[in-house]
Amino acid sequence: MVILITGGAGFIGSNLIHYWLEKHPDDTLVNFDALTYAGNPANLAGVESNSNYHFFHGDLRKKEQLDEVFERYSIDAVIHLAAESHVDRSINDPSPFIETNINGTFHLLEVARKHWQDDLKSHRFVHVSTDEVYGSLGKDGIFTEETPFAPNSPYSSSKASSDHLVRAWHHTFGMDILVTHCSNNYGPFQFPEKLIPLMIRNCIHQDPLPVYGDGLQIRDWLYVEDHCEALDFVFHKGESGETYNIGGLNEWENLSMVRHLCEVMDSELGNSPEKSCLNLIRHIRDRPGHDRRYAIDASKICKQLGWKPRHQIREGLEKTLRWYLDHQDWVEQVTSGAYRDYYRKHYGTD
Ligand code: NAD
Ligand code: TYD
Repeated sequence: MVILITGGAGFIGSNLIHYWLEKHPDDTLVNFDALTYAGNPANLAGVESNSNYHFFHGDLRKKEQLDEVFERYSIDAVIHLAAESHVDRSINDPSPFIETNINGTFHLLEVARKHWQDDLKSHRFVHVSTDEVYGSLGKDGIFTEETPFAPNSPYSSSKASSDHLVRAWHHTFGMDILVTHCSNNYGPFQFPEKLIPLMIRNCIHQDPLPVYGDGLQIRDWLYVEDHCEALDFVFHKGESGETYNIGGLNEWENLSMVRHLCEVMDSELGNSPEKSCLNLIRHIRDRPGHDRRYAIDASKICKQLGWKPRHQIREGLEKTLRWYLDHQDWVEQVTSGAYRDYYRKHYGTD
């Protein structure tokens, strides 16, 4: 089986490639990635020599490049992760989100449909979406697969749009498509613009820890390897046309998460109370349209496909912190140059 992984140089994509090559060594993976600021070949350093792995430097916005990759590698199936993925960037400039997440997904669907037209039903297409398409919860409630879409940010609305496209390509053209909605991931290789790696990096540098608004917003966290395993289950056991929520039942207020990270970092770095990372916490201007709470009901994938998360949150966070401490050269590499401009513009400080 030759599987096209889009966005395989990003956070979840690279974790998925490492996971898959080990779990399914007979499959061939083709990583199609534009290497935007979020894509990093260093994430795949260990797998480049594997003869079942190929990298194709391509952009979803250029349909002819998708055509070329399908032709060159006789693609059997797709796991589609490539996207612009950061909410704050989508607020600063929505255009790439529309171009990649919506138009790019449209191109991918059309190219796959063309290449698989003789036997559409025997080619699987897993579309990786997010829980953010469901909008924001109040104190109560939980997102199920039946929750209506109510996206609030340019990011989540572009993802919701792409979800509608893939749904239609299944219903109208009969493509074998499945959609997943996962909660917030954390783990190795996550770009330090997202909450957890940004806080870890700033703790190491003793830089301010920017908490938006009151910090009482809630996110539901899942260790990235558990997400990869869920995608494996959906790919191999999921029912065509179905959607599956993926999450770890790990709701944390942002401020509690940041405080917890500070405490673990203090102990890892041997910080005295005066040097505690807790002293670095700063409440800053809230994100416009900030979703208050996300929580995922993952009972469908657990009951129907037999998936369950393997990592407890504290264990997953410890593994993650350890990884960032052991890979400070990776952090330095991805945060040089353009990252500094982004950081200064967004947070108003270096
Ligand atoms: P990421 O930003 O780390 O990586 C995205 C990858 O896509 C990068 O390698 C980038 O180079 C590539 N890419 C971007 N635009 C492209 C284009 N036009 N053509 C080809 N490649 C392009 O994202 P991530 O956090 O790994 O998320 C992967 C997917 O999972 C996304 O679709 C995201 O919506 C979804 N998701 C993420 C989370 C999370 O917590 N990170 C949670 C649920 C769902
Ligand atoms: P993020 O990692 O950007 O994921 P998402 O917005 O997709 O859930 O942010 C997680 C939460 O952390 C979100 O409520 C916003 C908040 N946050 C901060 O308070 N400060 C920050 O610097 C960042 C990046 C996020």
